[in-house]
Amino acid sequence: MIGDKKVLFSGMQATGSLTLGNYLGALKNWVSLSDEYECFYSVVDMHSITVRQDPAELRKRARALLILYIAAGLDPEKNTIYYQSHVSAHAELAWILNCFTYMGELSRMTQFKDKSAKHGDNINAGLFTYPVLMAADILLYQADVVPVGIDQMQHLELTRDIAMRFNAIYGDVFTIPEAYVGKQGAKIMSLQDPSKKMSKSDENPNASVYLMDDPDTVRRKLKRAVTDSEGAVRYRDEQPGVKNLIDIYSVCTGKLPEEVEREFEGRGYGEFKEAVGEAVVSVLSPLQKRVKELEKEKEYIDTVIRNNAEKAEMTARRTLRKVQKKVGFPERVREREQK
Ligand code: TRP
Repeated sequence: MIGDKKVLFSGMQATGSLTLGNYLGALKNWVSLSDEYECFYSVVDMHSITVRQDPAELRKRARALLILYIAAGLDPEKNTIYYQSHVSAHAELAWILNCFTYMGELSRMTQFKDKSAKHGDNINAGLFTYPVLMAADILLYQADVVPVGIDQMQHLELTRDIAMRFNAIYGDVFTIPEAYVGKQGAKIMSLQDPSKKMSKSDENPNASVYLMDDPDTVRRKLKRAVTDSEGAVRYRDEQPGVKNLIDIYSVCTGKLPEEVEREFEGRGYGEFKEAVGEAVVSVLSPLQKRVKELEKEKEYIDTVIRNNAEKAEMTARRTLRKVQKKVGFPERVREREQK
């Protein structure tokens, strides 16, 4: 708890271009949580270097992501929005937690298995201990809840295990975080293969709508979206492509899937896809406009970055000090003298 509010932590990586799926499935919901919780939203740039990055590109994308958080409606006065790499406590706690995490646990992580299959030439130790850094992110802020997608659930489970293990030895040091499963946003699927999640790392650019795609590109991608030969706009599992488009339309317009079915009864896919395209454009256009405005407000953004890193640092340091003391690191002389 901070004040009378529960704490929420989440983060996103600044690799790849964010998609409509990231926005509708995650970011948009974050905004609705910021009144109820004390929220920390990190741009997790330290996680990004587990895969080789171009430095200039990473820096650019990290700033773009931070701006996007704000453009999407996260108020940086109310939420703590910051770069993970600006708060060194993340690395320090991660080291300590590494010593409370077993090789066997990390070997079982499906994301590690997937990523090491994909980046066979660079299976570095950071890729292996990625979930420990993630645990440090969450535990440093004593987070009560963590909104994560299903793909990160295993990492969150591990975080809980590490925290409970530590608490069992040293007393109540960490809050045990829960996954946030509230009114989750729709899980948006690939436009080209509706059995897969829409992903920023998809090789086929037509599979994803990127948040910064211009209106014509958005319309074209939706027009090309894979459907089926049923020819009916129905919300059912047997029509995964159409179901996905209904989900997209539904989140963008606030209409329920049943209403969408009714609206398009007796109308063809062509017309339906066009409407979905327009609905997406009407959500993305204002967001893009806000991003472009904020990009120009360089000083404002720099101030946000500085103030929020300080805010994050204060909370993180408090937990780190406690942990350091528990494991037996000597007190700093200056702190002893101040007592
Ligand atoms: N690993 C997460 C992802 O790729 C990002 C992340 C890092 C995160 N640290 C976190 C998410 C802490 C939630 C909480 O999606």
